[in-house]
Amino acid sequence: MSVTPRPPIPSFLPENAPFSPEQRAWLNGLLAGLYGLTDAVTPLSAEEAARLMPGLSVAAQAAESDEDAPWHDPALPLAERMKLAEGRPLRHRMMAAMAQQDCGQCGYNCRDYSAAIAARKEARLNLCVPGGKETARMLSRLSQELETPPAAGAALPAEARAVAVAPAPGRARDNPVPVTFLTRRRLNKEGSLKETWHVELDIADSGLDYVVGDSLGLYPANDPALVDAVIAALAAPPDFPIGGRTLREVLIDGVSLAPAPDMLFRLISYLTGGERRQKAIKLAAGQDPDGDAATLDVLAALQKFPGIRPDPEAFVESLDPLQPRVYSISSSPKCNPGRVSLTVDAVRYRVGERMRLGVASTFLASRVRPGDRIRAYVQKAQHFALPADPARPIIMIGPGTGIAPFRAFLQERMAVEAPGPNWLYFGHQRSDFDFFYEDELKAMRKSGHLTRLTLAWSRDGSEKIYVHHRMREEGRDLWAWIERGAHIYVCGDALRMAKDVERALIDIVAEHGKRSQEDAARFVAELKKNDRYQMDVY
Ligand SMILES: Cc1cc2nc3c(=O)[nH]c(=O)nc-3n(C[C@H](O)[C@H](O)[C@H](O)COP(=O)(O)OP(=O)(O)OC[C@H]3O[C@@H](n4cnc5c(N)ncnc54)[C@H](O)[C@@H]3O)c2cc1C
Ligand SMILES: NC(=O)c1ccc[n+]([C@@H]2O[C@H](COP(=O)([O-])OP(=O)(O)OC[C@H]3O[C@@H](n4cnc5c(N)ncnc54)[C@H](OP(=O)(O)O)[C@@H]3O)[C@@H](O)[C@H]2O)c1
Repeated sequence: MSVTPRPPIPSFLPENAPFSPEQRAWLNGLLAGLYGLTDAVTPLSAEEAARLMPGLSVAAQAAESDEDAPWHDPALPLAERMKLAEGRPLRHRMMAAMAQQDCGQCGYNCRDYSAAIAARKEARLNLCVPGGKETARMLSRLSQELETPPAAGAALPAEARAVAVAPAPGRARDNPVPVTFLTRRRLNKEGSLKETWHVELDIADSGLDYVVGDSLGLYPANDPALVDAVIAALAAPPDFPIGGRTLREVLIDGVSLAPAPDMLFRLISYLTGGERRQKAIKLAAGQDPDGDAATLDVLAALQKFPGIRPDPEAFVESLDPLQPRVYSISSSPKCNPGRVSLTVDAVRYRVGERMRLGVASTFLASRVRPGDRIRAYVQKAQHFALPADPARPIIMIGPGTGIAPFRAFLQERMAVEAPGPNWLYFGHQRSDFDFFYEDELKAMRKSGHLTRLTLAWSRDGSEKIYVHHRMREEGRDLWAWIERGAHIYVCGDALRMAKDVERALIDIVAEHGKRSQEDAARFVAELKKNDRYQMDVY
């Protein structure tokens, strides 16, 4: 495999300076970096720095390095992330409060969003979709350390935000453009336990363009039946005027109806007394007096405190704005000019008597109609792109909806007649029901465009077979592809799958590349650094 060798680092320190060889090497590297003589400075972890220079406090050293973020792992719970960031500057602790997915849904990555809040360039504390209420609460607590905390939920004026974001039309969440919904087609066969849709949108007149690897952000609308149930629970007139619109219109596409925000419980606490008031105060403070806090969406919160009659305007103000959702684009513009396709798993689950609906996925799966306009924007991929050299081999690991960007990659490599071999790992529950894009993949396999297709069905037999199990079985061949310079891509579930895949990859490098576990982990880290191991996980 080809890892570019690093240039030797010049020596800045006299031979008799009182440092160990390790300390000397690191300090020389640091000084070389500072003087711009090399880009070979590898940031130390806080622990490494403490070991090398015990005279400096871990926090002081870590504070200097913005690169070192040991909490930057989406699988760590918030409490652990905050512990790892203890004693660090505010922007680091704010970063630790984010969900660590770098998903871009907030319009930034985790590091830049927290830096913008800490620098008072961003006042909205509720933009982290995967972090949800937990992140918003922690950010709100941390923002009290800012000299003048920003008003909760308030956006800075557009001109002030423009410095940080500068959105062009259709290029960012703050400046969406209308696109047209065309069609949807279910990807699972009847009898599947999943409900995943291939969705086509027309972008021809929208001014949008994209490259494979990009995602599409879109603004959904709430389920009208849920909106009507909320209005009934409020006992308010649906046409109550709010800012030039009706209450019903605002509830349809202006605010989130799940989960119930702290502000709503605060409002409820003003309208109730006695034990009910105490409960609402506790819920507003993030406590869980009845053990049901996690299930309280806006309707369930209203039903928990029946009979309250908030002013509809105050009620709407207590809710969070409806956030856009992001989907990996599953088409190449070269094969589908003027169109974009998505691969969307519909989120539906039952809590008690009521079916809960994921707002955007069910909007796309069942509510939006052909010809409807949807506000959308392209979220450019960061470090998720095909290799510049079309001859490079690629290995794509995408179970479930994780297949989306790889369908796009395969279409693109076919359109440009890229000579590099393509290997896809796809997995899902059952081969008879959940083989997405089966005909297309089989045709590509037959034509030779898809060099290799490895499948993992988790519920076909008594044993769970996941993509990382298959990777281990094929470790020797995977290593051979890596040695030939393959780029590796992972897409799909961030919490479990992506971690298991990385573990498998490290073990494969250790076994077939004949390295220690530490060296194998370093090797994989190096692949990441060189953009040869890229992830689009959520
Ligand atoms: C970069 C990126 C790319 C993405 N690409 C895709 C893609 O290609 N395809 C795709 O389908 N999704 C993709 N997603 C995920 C997508 O953005 C949405 O998060 C997803 O569709 C759910 O959104 P929703 O509005 O339907 O659900 P929401 O209204 O946001 O509801 C989801 C929430 O419901 C709760 N929930 C869900 N299931 C259960 C359950 N069983 N029990 C209890 N609570 C539950 C959880 O709190 C969950 O966070 C991607 C995300 C990112 C960041
Ligand atoms: N909150 C959660 O716990 C959770 C879990 C998964 C997905 N999701 C979300 O659900 C949405 C859609 O998911 P999806 O339709 O793409 O499918 P998915 O639920 O991710 O499942 C795809 C396949 O991956 C398997 N799988 C489960 N754990 C795995 C692991 N550790 N390593 C490798 N494969 C594993 C599943 O098996 P089994 O189903 O048989 O286990 C299934 O065969 C995404 O937004 C995803 O983030 C959430």
